[in-house]
Amino acid sequence: MSIATEVTPSPTRQSIEAHLAEARERTIAMIAPLGDELLNRVYSPLLSPLAWDLGHIANFEELWLVQTVGGRPPLHGDLGRYYDAIENPRRDRGALPILHDAELRAYMAEVRERTLEVLGEVEVGPDAEDRLLRGGFVYEMLVAHELQHQETMLQLLQMLDVPYRPAEADPTPYAPAPLPEGAAGTVLVEAGTYEIGAPDDGTFAYDNERSRHAVELCAFEIDRTPVANATYIAYMEDTGAEPPMYWEPDGGGWARTAMGVTVPVDPARPVVHVSFEEAEAFARWAGGRLPTEFEWEAARPRLEGVGAVWEWTSSDFLAYPGFEAFPYEEYSKVFFGDAYKVLRGASWATHPRVARPSFRNWDLPQRRQIFAGIRLAKEPA
Ligand code: AVJ
Ligand code: FE
Repeated sequence: MSIATEVTPSPTRQSIEAHLAEARERTIAMIAPLGDELLNRVYSPLLSPLAWDLGHIANFEELWLVQTVGGRPPLHGDLGRYYDAIENPRRDRGALPILHDAELRAYMAEVRERTLEVLGEVEVGPDAEDRLLRGGFVYEMLVAHELQHQETMLQLLQMLDVPYRPAEADPTPYAPAPLPEGAAGTVLVEAGTYEIGAPDDGTFAYDNERSRHAVELCAFEIDRTPVANATYIAYMEDTGAEPPMYWEPDGGGWARTAMGVTVPVDPARPVVHVSFEEAEAFARWAGGRLPTEFEWEAARPRLEGVGAVWEWTSSDFLAYPGFEAFPYEEYSKVFFGDAYKVLRGASWATHPRVARPSFRNWDLPQRRQIFAGIRLAKEPA
């Protein structure tokens, strides 16, 4: 494991180069075990072929770091329209005239070369005049974007029908950590005022994490750890509820098939690949409820098993007070409303650089592809 987690409050060219390189090394390691055929294959209308994610990662980099910051023309004319996530819904991406194979790899490498050339020309200090460059913002955004698409690619890799053997250079653990032993039970969070959102200290955060603001909370209890498979199996047996995605009956018990490998379900690991709707139904059965995202953030210093699975909250994905779309509306703003539910935490597939306490993930309530599990809250006894 060599994932760097240090915070760099004022990035330098060297630290930006290191973050860009680290993200790309993980992308390359992730696809190293796959041939071009598997990169181009469409597995699900709900997920892009891997080749689309790869081209999109490079195109987003070209758009922001080469065209916008560097003022250079694009390498492939208006190819970028096929990599626009809003214009091209996932179900359509397998049919787009995107780059493949050697051409795709060459594009990724050429964009990166130009990115580093431009980086040598710009001012990225904490006092840089251009807000995009100040504190290295646009570079940290690009790194985060690549790391987030790695997680989308890992969602797709779950559907592979040949065994996936991670490359040696790949720092990804490829499994949720077992829940910490002896950490059962709940914590009581006192009523009070809690500061929510990303601090305004120059470190990178997305627009939807700002502005930091005070929230009044009533007292609540929250489980120290996410729900384990053993508990979810008890719930399934009691109610006849469907198993999580990728599970199948195995003798008297359950097995899961993912990344081309079938293994027995480990009762001690957190349940993963359940939808918001399933998480809510489970919470009702267990006599609790899902926490709000504010409760989650207030409780976070006292929670365990964070970083094993994304955790569904009861909160709609809404703007914080004083929200300002930056640098583009299609990251957050177009998704605000009651259609999407917020997830907090991080999963085994999430690079630690993405998993800030204030980070907000979101998805549709019926989706199960993401590495999402459940943590229960309830009113204090
Ligand atoms: C924050 C995971 C919901 O995948 O739609 C990637 C991240 N935004 N490229 C998504 C994202 C633009 C986003 N999620
Ligand atoms: Fe994207």
